[in-house]
Amino acid sequence: MPVLTAVQGDITRQDVDAVVNAANRAMRGGGGVDGAIHRAGGPAVLEDCRARFPHGLATGDAGWTTAGDLPARWVIHVVGPDRRAGETDRSLLVSCYTRALAVADELGARSVAFPLVSAGVYGWPKDDAIDAAVTTLRSTPTSVREARIVAFDRATYDLVRAALG
Ligand code: AR6
Repeated sequence: MPVLTAVQGDITRQDVDAVVNAANRAMRGGGGVDGAIHRAGGPAVLEDCRARFPHGLATGDAGWTTAGDLPARWVIHVVGPDRRAGETDRSLLVSCYTRALAVADELGARSVAFPLVSAGVYGWPKDDAIDAAVTTLRSTPTSVREARIVAFDRATYDLVRAALG
Protein backbone atom coordinates (compact mmCIF):
# COMPACT_ATOMS: atom_id res chain seq x y z
CA MET A 1 0.00 0.00 0.00
CA PRO A 2 1.41 3.44 -0.83
CA VAL A 3 2.07 6.16 1.70
CA LEU A 4 -0.52 8.86 1.09
CA THR A 5 0.60 12.49 1.15
CA ALA A 6 -1.14 15.76 0.34
CA VAL A 7 0.20 19.01 -1.04
CA GLN A 8 -1.38 22.24 -2.17
CA GLY A 9 -0.19 23.33 -5.58
CA ASP A 10 -0.03 22.80 -9.31
CA ILE A 11 0.21 19.19 -10.45
CA THR A 12 2.51 20.13 -13.32
CA ARG A 13 5.20 21.23 -10.83
CA GLN A 14 5.38 17.95 -8.93
CA ASP A 15 8.75 16.23 -8.78
CA VAL A 16 7.48 12.65 -9.03
CA ASP A 17 7.90 9.73 -11.42
CA ALA A 18 4.39 10.12 -12.86
CA VAL A 19 1.59 12.66 -12.75
CA VAL A 20 -2.02 11.66 -13.32
CA ASN A 21 -4.06 13.68 -15.80
CA ALA A 22 -7.82 14.17 -15.45
CA ALA A 23 -8.41 13.72 -19.18
CA ASN A 24 -11.50 13.16 -21.32
CA ARG A 25 -12.36 10.23 -23.59
CA ALA A 26 -10.98 11.89 -26.71
CA MET A 27 -7.57 12.44 -25.07
CA ARG A 28 -6.84 15.51 -27.15
CA GLY A 29 -6.48 18.05 -24.33
CA GLY A 30 -8.98 20.32 -22.59
CA GLY A 31 -9.19 22.65 -19.59
CA GLY A 32 -8.33 22.26 -15.89
CA VAL A 33 -5.57 19.76 -15.09
CA ASP A 34 -5.61 18.50 -18.67
CA GLY A 35 -4.96 21.95 -20.11
CA ALA A 36 -2.22 22.65 -17.57
CA ILE A 37 -0.45 19.35 -18.31
CA HIS A 38 -0.53 19.85 -22.07
CA ARG A 39 0.66 23.46 -21.74
CA ALA A 40 3.53 22.61 -19.39
CA GLY A 41 4.41 19.29 -21.02
CA GLY A 42 4.49 20.73 -24.53
CA PRO A 43 3.44 19.20 -27.87
CA ALA A 44 5.13 15.83 -27.19
CA VAL A 45 2.30 14.89 -24.82
CA LEU A 46 -0.42 15.42 -27.44
CA GLU A 47 1.67 13.70 -30.13
CA ASP A 48 2.04 10.66 -27.89
CA CYS A 49 -1.70 10.71 -27.05
CA ARG A 50 -2.52 10.61 -30.77
CA ALA A 51 -0.01 7.84 -31.45
CA ARG A 52 -0.85 5.61 -28.50
CA PHE A 53 -4.57 6.30 -28.17
CA PRO A 54 -6.00 6.90 -31.65
CA HIS A 55 -9.46 6.00 -30.35
CA GLY A 56 -9.08 7.70 -26.97
CA LEU A 57 -9.78 6.02 -23.65
CA ALA A 58 -12.93 4.73 -21.91
CA THR A 59 -14.38 6.32 -18.79
CA GLY A 60 -12.71 4.74 -15.74
CA ASP A 61 -9.67 3.60 -17.71
CA ALA A 62 -6.03 4.73 -17.62
CA GLY A 63 -3.09 4.82 -20.04
CA TRP A 64 0.32 6.46 -20.14
CA THR A 65 2.29 8.80 -22.38
CA THR A 66 5.54 10.69 -22.16
CA ALA A 67 5.49 13.72 -19.86
CA GLY A 68 7.36 15.90 -22.36
CA ASP A 69 8.85 18.91 -20.59
CA LEU A 70 7.33 18.15 -17.17
CA PRO A 71 9.61 17.21 -14.25
CA ALA A 72 7.81 13.85 -14.16
CA ARG A 73 8.80 11.05 -16.50
CA TRP A 74 5.30 9.88 -17.43
CA VAL A 75 1.75 11.17 -17.58
CA ILE A 76 -0.88 8.62 -16.61
CA HIS A 77 -4.12 9.74 -18.22
CA VAL A 78 -7.41 8.73 -16.62
CA VAL A 79 -10.95 9.57 -17.66
CA GLY A 80 -13.22 10.30 -14.72
CA PRO A 81 -17.01 10.05 -14.89
CA ASP A 82 -18.71 13.22 -16.13
CA ARG A 83 -21.62 13.87 -13.77
CA ARG A 84 -22.90 16.66 -15.98
CA ALA A 85 -23.45 14.01 -18.64
CA GLY A 86 -25.21 11.67 -16.21
CA GLU A 87 -22.24 9.45 -15.37
CA THR A 88 -22.97 8.94 -11.66
CA ASP A 89 -21.50 5.45 -11.17
CA ARG A 90 -18.93 5.87 -8.39
CA SER A 91 -17.11 2.68 -9.37
CA LEU A 92 -15.93 4.52 -12.51
CA LEU A 93 -14.23 7.09 -10.29
CA VAL A 94 -12.69 4.39 -8.06
CA SER A 95 -11.50 2.63 -11.20
CA CYS A 96 -9.51 5.72 -12.27
CA TYR A 97 -7.35 5.34 -9.16
CA THR A 98 -6.94 1.55 -9.28
CA ARG A 99 -6.17 1.59 -13.01
CA ALA A 100 -3.72 4.48 -12.59
CA LEU A 101 -1.86 2.49 -9.91
CA ALA A 102 -1.82 -0.58 -12.16
CA VAL A 103 -0.30 1.47 -14.99
CA ALA A 104 2.22 2.99 -12.54
CA ASP A 105 3.21 -0.55 -11.54
CA GLU A 106 3.69 -1.53 -15.20
CA LEU A 107 5.96 1.49 -15.64
CA GLY A 108 7.86 0.96 -12.41
CA ALA A 109 6.84 4.40 -11.13
CA ARG A 110 7.43 4.73 -7.40
CA SER A 111 5.96 8.19 -6.78
CA VAL A 112 2.72 9.33 -8.39
CA ALA A 113 0.86 12.66 -8.06
CA PHE A 114 -2.94 12.58 -8.39
CA PRO A 115 -5.41 15.40 -8.93
CA LEU A 116 -8.95 15.07 -7.60
CA VAL A 117 -10.35 13.37 -10.66
CA SER A 118 -13.84 14.54 -11.74
CA ALA A 119 -13.97 17.20 -8.99
CA GLY A 120 -13.70 20.13 -11.41
CA VAL A 121 -15.33 20.43 -14.84
CA TYR A 122 -16.97 17.00 -14.44
CA GLY A 123 -18.92 18.14 -11.37
CA TRP A 124 -18.33 15.35 -8.84
CA PRO A 125 -19.06 16.60 -5.27
CA LYS A 126 -15.72 17.49 -3.72
CA ASP A 127 -16.17 15.61 -0.42
CA ASP A 128 -16.97 12.38 -2.20
CA ALA A 129 -14.21 12.89 -4.78
CA ILE A 130 -11.76 13.22 -1.87
CA ASP A 131 -13.19 10.16 -0.13
CA ALA A 132 -12.93 8.07 -3.32
CA ALA A 133 -9.30 9.15 -3.80
CA VAL A 134 -8.22 8.55 -0.20
CA THR A 135 -10.02 5.26 0.42
CA THR A 136 -9.01 3.77 -2.94
CA LEU A 137 -5.37 4.85 -2.84
CA ARG A 138 -5.16 3.60 0.72
CA SER A 139 -6.54 0.14 0.05
CA THR A 140 -5.12 -0.81 -3.35
CA PRO A 141 -2.10 -3.14 -3.42
CA THR A 142 0.71 -1.58 -5.50
CA SER A 143 4.47 -1.12 -5.69
CA VAL A 144 3.99 2.67 -5.69
CA ARG A 145 5.58 4.03 -2.53
CA GLU A 146 4.14 7.54 -2.49
CA ALA A 147 0.70 8.54 -3.76
CA ARG A 148 0.52 12.32 -3.52
CA ILE A 149 -2.85 14.04 -3.70
CA VAL A 150 -2.44 17.51 -5.17
CA ALA A 151 -5.08 20.05 -4.16
CA PHE A 152 -5.17 23.23 -6.19
CA ASP A 153 -6.53 25.59 -3.53
CA ARG A 154 -6.16 25.94 0.22
CA ALA A 155 -9.75 25.01 1.13
CA THR A 156 -9.50 21.76 -0.84
CA TYR A 157 -6.10 21.01 0.68
CA ASP A 158 -7.58 21.38 4.19
CA LEU A 159 -10.37 18.94 3.28
CA VAL A 160 -7.84 16.41 1.93
CA ARG A 161 -5.72 16.74 5.08
CA ALA A 162 -8.78 16.12 7.22
CA ALA A 163 -9.66 13.03 5.16
CA LEU A 164 -6.14 11.68 5.60
CA GLY A 165 -6.65 11.89 9.37
N1 AR6 B 1 -3.10 21.25 -10.50
C1 AR6 B 1 -3.81 20.57 -9.56
N2 AR6 B 1 -5.15 20.56 -9.51
C2 AR6 B 1 -5.80 21.28 -10.44
C3 AR6 B 1 -5.14 22.01 -11.47
C4 AR6 B 1 -3.72 21.99 -11.46
N3 AR6 B 1 -3.00 22.65 -12.37
N4 AR6 B 1 -6.10 22.61 -12.25
C5 AR6 B 1 -7.30 22.27 -11.75
N5 AR6 B 1 -7.13 21.47 -10.65
P1 AR6 B 1 -10.58 19.19 -13.71
P2 AR6 B 1 -12.35 16.84 -14.16
C6 AR6 B 1 -8.15 20.82 -9.79
O1 AR6 B 1 -11.64 20.10 -14.21
O2 AR6 B 1 -13.37 17.37 -13.22
C7 AR6 B 1 -10.89 19.01 -18.78
O3 AR6 B 1 -11.40 19.93 -19.71
C8 AR6 B 1 -9.56 21.32 -9.89
O4 AR6 B 1 -9.74 22.43 -9.00
O5 AR6 B 1 -9.18 19.39 -14.18
O6 AR6 B 1 -11.98 15.39 -14.11
C9 AR6 B 1 -10.66 17.63 -19.39
O7 AR6 B 1 -10.23 17.70 -20.73
C10 AR6 B 1 -10.37 20.11 -9.45
O8 AR6 B 1 -10.41 20.00 -8.02
O9 AR6 B 1 -10.92 17.63 -14.05
C11 AR6 B 1 -12.02 17.00 -19.25
O10 AR6 B 1 -12.86 17.35 -20.33
C12 AR6 B 1 -9.55 18.92 -9.97
O11 AR6 B 1 -8.24 19.46 -10.23
C13 AR6 B 1 -12.54 17.55 -17.95
O12 AR6 B 1 -11.87 18.80 -17.78
C14 AR6 B 1 -10.09 18.28 -11.24
O13 AR6 B 1 -10.62 19.28 -12.10
C15 AR6 B 1 -12.22 16.67 -16.78
O14 AR6 B 1 -12.85 17.20 -15.63
